[in-house]
Amino acid sequence: MTVTVSATLAVNEALEEKRRQGVRVLPLGFGEAGLPVHPVMRDQLSAGNGANAYGPVAGSTALREAAAGYWERRGLPTDPSMVIAGPGSKPLLYSLLLELGGDTAIAAPSWVSYAAQSRLVGCRPVMVPTATGQGGVPQPDLLHAAVTDARDQGRTVKAVVVTLPDNPTGTVASEETVRRLAEVARELDLVIISDEIYRDLVHPGDGEVRVHSPADFAPERTVISTGLSKNLALGGWRIGVLRLPDSEIGQRLRGGLLGVASEIWSSPAAPVQEAAAHAFTEPAELVDHIDRSRRLHGLVARGVADTFTAAGAEVPTPRAAFYLYPDFEPVRERLAAQHGITTGPELTGLLLDRFGMGVLPAVEFGESTDTLRMRVATSLLYGETEERRYAALSATDPLALPWISDHLERLSEVLDALLPDSPSGSVAAPAQVATSAV
Ligand SMILES: Cc1ncc(COP(=O)(O)O)c(C=O)c1O
Repeated sequence: MTVTVSATLAVNEALEEKRRQGVRVLPLGFGEAGLPVHPVMRDQLSAGNGANAYGPVAGSTALREAAAGYWERRGLPTDPSMVIAGPGSKPLLYSLLLELGGDTAIAAPSWVSYAAQSRLVGCRPVMVPTATGQGGVPQPDLLHAAVTDARDQGRTVKAVVVTLPDNPTGTVASEETVRRLAEVARELDLVIISDEIYRDLVHPGDGEVRVHSPADFAPERTVISTGLSKNLALGGWRIGVLRLPDSEIGQRLRGGLLGVASEIWSSPAAPVQEAAAHAFTEPAELVDHIDRSRRLHGLVARGVADTFTAAGAEVPTPRAAFYLYPDFEPVRERLAAQHGITTGPELTGLLLDRFGMGVLPAVEFGESTDTLRMRVATSLLYGETEERRYAALSATDPLALPWISDHLERLSEVLDALLPDSPSGSVAAPAQVATSAV
């Protein structure tokens, strides 16, 4: 089975190539947290660097206990023996799909890797649309219909994946949506895989929302995954954890997962586990760092969202993480008349080729080709050096920092050039060779 390079990684490479050619780029494609490593985590990692033995397959006791405490503080009592650690939540999710077998219901749109992983394990995803503003959770009634239909056709559907908060939309499904989803999953006997890797990155302030896990409503069948790649920007360290339900389903999955893990990664990197165990105890300085990160994510995501709105796109208000999902449907006719564009990939292709702007079309997230939505990741705007990223984290008004405001101005310029008579309209500016010092 052939799986192509993940779309998010591919757009990153395309932008790198543009940069090498001297083109000024707008890096809005890659979902990296874009923030420095906290000094406490650096110290923890160095302190653990003598740990060179293979450890337990499920992860160290210290890490599993710390992760259990993390969930406990979120209202989800957890037995450490039902926690499994791995080299990132992505391989843990893959192992879970492999162990479950059968087709999986997945939200459309949803993170690029669920559908790809489902295919990798030899199954087919059942794509189910989400409602606007309720990203990451398949519409419960449509889920019911789609799974029943697939089963009527002889397919075996074993699980449903939800993302709370959501990538790609940056929204957080409501309590009601999550509750209904849990009810439908129970009715259809589906395991719920709840990817909560962005849970701690809800934007603070007036619109602050609460994240509800399906484990609150269907504890016997919900597996939660999380990690440190997003809240602490440690994607390169590769560490993730699964919380299995304390039930017959959970016990069965645990045995199978440990078998898969033992044959693929043996145990997660020991020094990283030691550092992660510390992080999951949530010491005050890391909580403060995450608080400042989510504030920055919120302000920049809102600033970028406003720029898209001014250009005529419709943008569900981002509530968490560093993504937004503008829809160019309201300007479809103008895009067709001015550029001959009728599909999402044509639109994002033009933005990349003509303006050096990297974003991903909705089709990469499981939506149809003609949809004019796109995922915009805002976290690479914080700066390319550690110094700038620290400055962004501590700025009262990060949007006023020259390198961020330059990006926002460039974005306005590009969108005006795309739609010359848009509400904020000014004169077109084609792709150019970089001259700016920022
Ligand atoms: C929704 C979602 N889940 C999981 C991951 C990957 O996490 P990890 O680095 O823990 O493998 C990502 C990364 O982009 C993500 O967006």
